[in-house]
Amino acid sequence: MKILLLGGGGREHAFAWKLSQSKHCTKLYIAPGNPGTAQHGENVPIDPENNAAVADFVEQKGIEMVVVGPEAPLVNGVWNYLRRYRSTSHVAVIGPSMQGAKLEGSKAYAKKFMQDFKIPTAGYREFFATKSTLALNFLRKKATLPIVLKADGLAAGKGVVICQERDEAVAEMAAMLDGKFGTSSRKVVVEEFLSGIEFSVFVLTDGDSYQILPVAKDYKRIGEGDTGPNTGGMGAVSPPPFVDATMMKKVEERIIKPTIAGLKKRKIEYQGFIFIGLIKVGNEPFVIEYNVRMGDPETEVVLPRLKNDLVELFMAVRDRRLSEVKIEVDERAATTIILASGGYPGDYPKGKAITGLDKTEGSIVFHAGTKAIDGQLVTSGGRVMAVTSLGKNFREALAVSNKNAKAIEFDGKYFRGDIGFDL
Ligand code: AMP
Ligand code: GLY
Repeated sequence: MKILLLGGGGREHAFAWKLSQSKHCTKLYIAPGNPGTAQHGENVPIDPENNAAVADFVEQKGIEMVVVGPEAPLVNGVWNYLRRYRSTSHVAVIGPSMQGAKLEGSKAYAKKFMQDFKIPTAGYREFFATKSTLALNFLRKKATLPIVLKADGLAAGKGVVICQERDEAVAEMAAMLDGKFGTSSRKVVVEEFLSGIEFSVFVLTDGDSYQILPVAKDYKRIGEGDTGPNTGGMGAVSPPPFVDATMMKKVEERIIKPTIAGLKKRKIEYQGFIFIGLIKVGNEPFVIEYNVRMGDPETEVVLPRLKNDLVELFMAVRDRRLSEVKIEVDERAATTIILASGGYPGDYPKGKAITGLDKTEGSIVFHAGTKAIDGQLVTSGGRVMAVTSLGKNFREALAVSNKNAKAIEFDGKYFRGDIGFDL
């Protein structure tokens, strides 16, 4: 089968690595990919958010399956576009329709969905730019602190602000409604603050049934000890030891089952991943957010622990026989450490030469923001590489990732040496 993978980060390198191991994968294209994905398939310079360009390529090359890495093409309707035309309507898309992608594309939509289907989540209200006085008065007089403000639409992971002070909340709300995140913050969700430890559950669904993939925890803050601004994720561990079978039972019964049932009830076409961001408050799970794709860098620890042939899983999704599949998981722990460009998540330089890859041992090094210029590997993004290792437990795995994170070099390299510190 010819497969097209959309995206070009660490998550997509992990997907390419795993897909290319399948006997069913005869040809893998990645759009646009990176030097890491190029080790497992052919990179093609296509913008994954250009539906027409993707569809043309699919038709031209006889692609039978499109695997969507990031959320933007899904929110942008790549599923609907391919389904609409006779030349591409038969192609399996791993990722939901535009309607399903609203679970990530609109925080207000996701909150309403959870409320309608009685899925445990923080209490909330929504406010609109057209009625900003209402929003500001609510924050001045009624809101309990701390309070969480979320831009409704996609904001590259930056649209959530936790405010400790009333004045700060009022100012932030005013800025958001005034277009701080463009049209994404013309609507703002105000949410009750939940205190607890976060983890991520990944579900693959064929629209009827589902399978649960290995659980992970990511480290979102830039600084050691979970300090400083949020990033896309600086490292991950799978499995997080604090998520036991009892907790997973609660997650499955109270969250996963009603989510899948809710999608069906709403007649939403959804064949792909659901990434549920959870928080454990006391001993109870609450949903922080839905994502309609895999996490990055969580994929870099989830896929290395998955023993199944990934293309076989995707074929079962396509044929709606996922219930017949048994997920097989490597009992070992996996960890990943992100090597970032100095300055990230703020401004950072690009084009720094990367060396020392040949000195690494015992890790899988996934490329995230790299580029090859005349045969020289250089940095091209904030998150540059993800160094993944497997071990008897997460500490052993981390020791290997740490050692290899030190061996790889580029100007301004930064990584957190404390991933897993809280476990
Ligand atoms: P989100 O983009 O919705 O995942 O939010 C980003 C981060 O903000 C989450 O990973 C949490 O750390 C934090 N956060 C979001 N909502 C809440 C909440 N209701 N209570 C506490 N922290 C939250
Ligand atoms: N690592 C969090 C995310 O992918 O959204």
